[in-house]
Amino acid sequence: MNKVTVRDIEVGGKRVLVRVDFNVPLDEKTGAIADDSRIRATLPTIKYLIDRGARIILCSHLGRPGGKVVDKLRLPIIAQRLSQILGKQVGVTRDCIGSETEKSVQSLKSSDVLLLENLRFHSAEERDNPIFARALARLADIYVNDAFGTSHRSHASIVRITEYLPSVAGLLLEKEVKTLGGVLENPAHPFGGLVGGAKVSDKVDMLENIMSKVDFLLIGGGMAATFLKAKSYEIGLSLIESDRVDTAAGLIEEASRNGVRLLLPVDVIVTDEIGDEAKGKIVSIESISPQQKIVDIGSHTIRNFYEELRRCKTVFWNGPMGIYEIPQFAEGTKAMAKLLASLDAITIIGGGSTAEVVIELGLADKMSFVSTGGGASLKFLGGQTLPGVESLLDKDSLVIGKLKGVTPSR
Ligand code: 3PG
Repeated sequence: MNKVTVRDIEVGGKRVLVRVDFNVPLDEKTGAIADDSRIRATLPTIKYLIDRGARIILCSHLGRPGGKVVDKLRLPIIAQRLSQILGKQVGVTRDCIGSETEKSVQSLKSSDVLLLENLRFHSAEERDNPIFARALARLADIYVNDAFGTSHRSHASIVRITEYLPSVAGLLLEKEVKTLGGVLENPAHPFGGLVGGAKVSDKVDMLENIMSKVDFLLIGGGMAATFLKAKSYEIGLSLIESDRVDTAAGLIEEASRNGVRLLLPVDVIVTDEIGDEAKGKIVSIESISPQQKIVDIGSHTIRNFYEELRRCKTVFWNGPMGIYEIPQFAEGTKAMAKLLASLDAITIIGGGSTAEVVIELGLADKMSFVSTGGGASLKFLGGQTLPGVESLLDKDSLVIGKLKGVTPSR
């Protein structure tokens, strides 16, 4: 990565504003943190700064409060969890900007950690507003972006702020860019892509971009129905994107032009209606009736995918194989997760729902890398530059005289 990182500069005694992505899932009933992986993923940067005596100011969004205060999206619950994990008190402000917040920052000592209240309580955050960005910038000497998962958003705390502070990458952001970038640049072959999820439209850019790197592509999930339709199979009442059938046909052609083996399900689980009590049955893709909906991949497909994946040296997985939220339609996804966990290969898990599945099954530790970025990792793998990464200082700024306001580390 050609960006300056927190390791490259002196941080001791400095006020360092770290943008993190603490947008963690909350339990719908209790409001408790359902999974704290995103908090834990930022520990290397936070500990690095603590060890070097920086005064650490963390900022994040949580949910989509739409520019107003929403009590259940307040951040003290996050500060509490971070305090427990760090074994160190993490203070939290009542607002992310303003005179009270400035006072809290002034009283920080070396290695203290303070978390600002939810950035999205201000609509200015999502509008990339310069006044709001400047108010945040006033709190610090240095800005660190460790929020890979939000770096596809041109928001004030991600992009605009970099106009006002020397801005460098955190260790999580660096790891994400290096790992996902490595998949695109230099994957060990055979390289297989396992792609699922509901929509083709969400994944087209990514599929097109990885098409020239992979040796084979395995397609499951809701989007497989659109591919099956493109091959003229009866898909019953399965939800498809009719305007993407041609896209799917184009991807099938492109795969064959590139010498990529593209595998679709040969059998699927179908049901007449989707719901908690729904029952599924396995059918071959030639026998889907007009009233049925595809809800998971079948056992022959699992076996076919297994045969391909077990030969891989690199596997990238993004998107569940069926309706994972309904236990009777989660078997295909679970089987793929277990298979990847058992492979002697580099296994890279895209963020969002795929990461949630792997974490929920307790298999995250068995994978080489689980991205913390949902939309961000899709955009990155789709070949797009992320504004939050782009706006950070380039490595060549480290050349004496070019770096303003910070000292290169010794
Ligand atoms: C995410 O969860 O993907 C990031 O935190 C970004 O959140 P957003 O989609 O609400 O911008």
